[in-house]
Amino acid sequence: TRNMETRNTECLVVGSGVAGLTAAIQLARHGHHVLLAVRDTLADSNTAKAQGGIAASFGKDDNPALHLQDTLTAGAGLSDESVSQLVVTEGPDDIRWLANNGAEFDRTEDGSLALGREGCHSRNRIVHSHGDATGAEVARALTVLAATEPNIRTLEGCYIVDLLTHEGRCYGAISLWHGRKICLRAQHTVLATGGLGRLFLHTTNPEGATGSGTALAVRAGATVADMEFVQFHPTALALPGCPNFLISEAVRGAGAHLVNLDGKRFMPALHPMAELAPRDVVARCIFQEMTKANATHIWLDARHIKNAAKLFPMIAATCREYGVDIENDLIPIAPAAHYMMGGIKTDTWGRTNLKGLYACGEAACTGLQGANRLASNSLLEGLVFGRRAATIIGKTRLPQADRGLYWQEENLSEAPLESVTEDCRRSQEIMSRYLGITRNAADLTRGKEKILDLTKRYEGCAAHTPEELDLRARLTCDLLVVHAAMRRQESRGAHYRSDFPQKDDAYRKHFSDTRPVYDDA
Ligand code: SIN
Repeated sequence: TRNMETRNTECLVVGSGVAGLTAAIQLARHGHHVLLAVRDTLADSNTAKAQGGIAASFGKDDNPALHLQDTLTAGAGLSDESVSQLVVTEGPDDIRWLANNGAEFDRTEDGSLALGREGCHSRNRIVHSHGDATGAEVARALTVLAATEPNIRTLEGCYIVDLLTHEGRCYGAISLWHGRKICLRAQHTVLATGGLGRLFLHTTNPEGATGSGTALAVRAGATVADMEFVQFHPTALALPGCPNFLISEAVRGAGAHLVNLDGKRFMPALHPMAELAPRDVVARCIFQEMTKANATHIWLDARHIKNAAKLFPMIAATCREYGVDIENDLIPIAPAAHYMMGGIKTDTWGRTNLKGLYACGEAACTGLQGANRLASNSLLEGLVFGRRAATIIGKTRLPQADRGLYWQEENLSEAPLESVTEDCRRSQEIMSRYLGITRNAADLTRGKEKILDLTKRYEGCAAHTPEELDLRARLTCDLLVVHAAMRRQESRGAHYRSDFPQKDDAYRKHFSDTRPVYDDA
């Protein structure tokens, strides 16, 4: 890095969702200097698209133990109990912090927080804003705080090329900023880069959700875990030519029904919680109905919900744009990739196995989400672990690099430029066709072969542009997901294998990887 333009900072935070912004703000408020690197603008994140809300046991009939129980039930035997306990116990204070720092949540007439219901929750505990625009409000409030905090410098349009590591320690990252490679030297580096819904064709996630942080971490030698567990949200708007806009689970929480193309409800016969069964169950049941009817959607019926458009103004407005009136029409929906339960393995302070490298939010795998995340536990996780990562960084002194750090483009040849965009699309088709809601050994083998074929095309190629970096991240994560999906020969939570349809106690454990796996040797 000797001849490279370099910026030095105490803390490098990558990503501006709830986890990244929380970490950056908390660090800054404790006097640390933060460089906040974001690939698009500060305002772009998966957080900003979140609808339903943030789960916390504020209700009079509720308590953390019940929230814990629901989290463990959804997690299908893989949610870590002590981590979950920590989150449901500490989470309410983090939400109060957010409310005291500018976030406006919907309230009842007596001024207490209005609480909605979502799938697999035994109580009303979803804190929300403007009905169905919770994420936008959380992102707005945090962005204002970050933008006015003198200890935070923000670098927008900044892509991370590689983490800078030496002997098990991370010293920051090499970045690509408007065509220039810049070395960002940091004592502490926090990856809060979000998930990877964009690995699939149909997703509720924004463009940046391509697993970039996970891919960077594993390239640098960090451990990743639970990569087979991709959550598909049951209800994304499914209209030809329109983006996969999320129709919040809160709409079903308010009483909406799922009906098949014959106009019949099917969930009550399939699960005691009917439309509010755990998300993986509902998504699979919808998928089966679609398969039976050879259709690309079924319906969500919200017509009987009083004032549905007032309760869910953003959903109503977006549906209206596409010609659907949620109070009078059936809404065409289909499942779409939504959330990654796995990711960069961390402890309860966001620490990875590399010194100086932390991860939080969807990019991390803390053990909270298990095999299937409970609805609205993700903004909560981002808040709790963004804060905790900042706390531990404040208490940690790491030695400086004792000599110049060395980083070299490991690859020399140019990528076949004209095919990068096409190959991104091809990788999405492969993931959707072979690694979707239902998996089996033959499909996984075929999927893996195809991903490997694509990967080999780029072996030995440099990644100079955002598009090339994006494809590199996708293929790395594709391989991690397919390898993990092949390894888990059972069905659990979001990972469903038609050739192993039952849960198997022998697999009641987490698997981790320390490199993208190219073969099974
Ligand atoms: C939703 O509003 O349905 C999304 C909530 C979540 O993904 O937790």
